[in-house]
Amino acid sequence: MKISTLDLGEKPLLLAPMEDVTDASFRCICKDYGADMVYTEFVPSDGLIRDARKALSKLVIYDYERPIGIQIYGHIPESMVEAAKMAEEAKPEVIDLNFGCPVNKIAKRGAGSGMMREPDKLVEITRRVVEAVKLPVTVKTRLGWDRSEDPCKIASALAEAGADMLVIHGRTVSQGFSGSADWDAILDVNLKSTYFMSHFGIPHLKARGGGSIINTSSVQGMASANLVSAYAASKGGLLALTRAMAIEFAPDEIRVNAILPGAVDTPMLRAGLSRGHVGDGTIIDRLENLARKTVNGRVGKPEEIARSIYFLADNQQSSFMTGQALVIDGGATARLSTE
Ligand SMILES: Cc1cc2nc3c(=O)[nH]c(=O)nc-3n(C[C@H](O)[C@H](O)[C@H](O)COP(=O)(O)O)c2cc1C
Repeated sequence: MKISTLDLGEKPLLLAPMEDVTDASFRCICKDYGADMVYTEFVPSDGLIRDARKALSKLVIYDYERPIGIQIYGHIPESMVEAAKMAEEAKPEVIDLNFGCPVNKIAKRGAGSGMMREPDKLVEITRRVVEAVKLPVTVKTRLGWDRSEDPCKIASALAEAGADMLVIHGRTVSQGFSGSADWDAILDVNLKSTYFMSHFGIPHLKARGGGSIINTSSVQGMASANLVSAYAASKGGLLALTRAMAIEFAPDEIRVNAILPGAVDTPMLRAGLSRGHVGDGTIIDRLENLARKTVNGRVGKPEEIARSIYFLADNQQSSFMTGQALVIDGGATARLSTE
């Protein structure tokens, strides 16, 4: 396999670029284990041109890593050209352009996979970078924004623009990092396990003369967001499962209900926010952003969810409720987005 004049031999093994993963030490380990070529994490072009220390530090490469590609991303042609020239000064073997990252905060401002919405500009940036540097230029895209696009069209335009290699992440942007494998895992954990776990508990509930099962769904089961198809489907499926289980287990005096929490301030929510899933800015900014979407003007507290669970678990208090979905979201799903 050749990238321009760079000969990588037959069937080479290339380390994919991964943010927060493929730093110099990780690359060194992969090299020891037989990687034939490695890539840096992606580096923001705007960070490079304003000399941001973090971005510059990602240009540091070592001889033992060679051959290596430095990957940059951005959506402004001039910045990408300047950043590519800076990356070239670090003397990698290849400059790689990332047009595939689906992370919200990057794609939303048009960079990474956001460029897949503007294929002409994507090709134009590639052409200008190819003209501006002497090194081979490789490109990473996705299959398209969604299934409606033909990846071959953009591939041939990139070849004409002078790209030396095209790597296609075999998912569309809408799929994020999901795909059939993730679908199975998410449905297994969120949906199937609920049903199978209940079957273990039911003999015990029967022995006590009945009981209450509470399934943890989510507001995502009713109203949804971008790039969470599998998760939302699993939580929606859980609502249907709740109703079916309520009917199936009613003869055993077992009630089955679901809770649908919205944004609740937990370590899990904060971890999701820190990965950039909702909006921009600091975690506090993003929490405030979520809070503004509720009628109560704040995110929930874990104990507020717990109280609803006590209520549903208590055969006295919620004795006439089964097969129902209790939404606990500060009113977020009550408000029209047009309001
Ligand atoms: C944590 C993580 C970070 C990633 N960062 C980048 C990146 O900086 N640049 C890039 O082109 N792809 C990035 N990717 C995508 C991977 O390079 C790869 O294309 C993708 O994971 C598909 O391979 P898989 O199906 O084996 O996961 C990242 C993937 C993961 C999981």
